[in-house]
Amino acid sequence: MMDDEHFRVAATAEQTAGACGAWIIGELELILRSSDFATLAISGGSTPKLMFNAMAALPFDWSRLQIFWVDERCVPPDDAQSNYKLAKEHLLDRTHIPPRNVHRIRGEQPPEEAAADYIEEIRSSFGLGAGQLPSFDIIHRGIGDDAHTASLFPGEPLIGDRTGIAAHVYVEKLHMHRVTLLPGVLMTAKKTVILAAGADKADPIVNVFRGPEDPFKFPCQIATRGAHNAFWFLDESAAAKL
Ligand code: 6PG
Repeated sequence: MMDDEHFRVAATAEQTAGACGAWIIGELELILRSSDFATLAISGGSTPKLMFNAMAALPFDWSRLQIFWVDERCVPPDDAQSNYKLAKEHLLDRTHIPPRNVHRIRGEQPPEEAAADYIEEIRSSFGLGAGQLPSFDIIHRGIGDDAHTASLFPGEPLIGDRTGIAAHVYVEKLHMHRVTLLPGVLMTAKKTVILAAGADKADPIVNVFRGPEDPFKFPCQIATRGAHNAFWFLDESAAAKL
């Protein structure tokens, strides 16, 4: 089993989520030594809840962080499935980050409109010209039991997109519309951190590292397989087959 600065394994989900949250805050602090602000894109699901709680408990100047989402379900912001709601309850409300620093995907809008508005918000926040992609300081991602990441599920044609910023996708297996950052943006992250816990992540993680190199089959290989700037935080169950 690999265990180095790029690959940390802790006994429990709580421990690895806490370590991941502390790592993110530490990295952001380093960035703020030479920048006025830092940019972080976070994912949703269930695992990040523990990480958000850990981050909120640490001392940090949240007024200097611009926070974005990797993806969002096309639901209202107070819906139980909303990634924004998860972060609001476990992080944003506990840190009092200025609302102007919070760049959520407006899941309550029609999906295409939500995607277009999010692209515009990213372009404006990063001061991008036509055709330019943002380079987030840190992108936090998870991995699904099918090796999906963000809202890029196996077989999604947009996995081949290297020029777009974000898009609306319909996830057939979940019967759900979503908005997601696209691979080109995942690949321009200065650092990528993946948090995964639970036995159901053991097989997809093995496929990411040791399966055929095929991001259409294993989307979490995007910006991680062979990447020097990808950092993994796993619990023992998720790392069990490495
Ligand atoms: C989402 C996430 C998604 C998540 C994985 C893992 O909106 O669901 O962005 O990509 O990271 O599904 O989710 P868990 O950590 O809950 O297993």
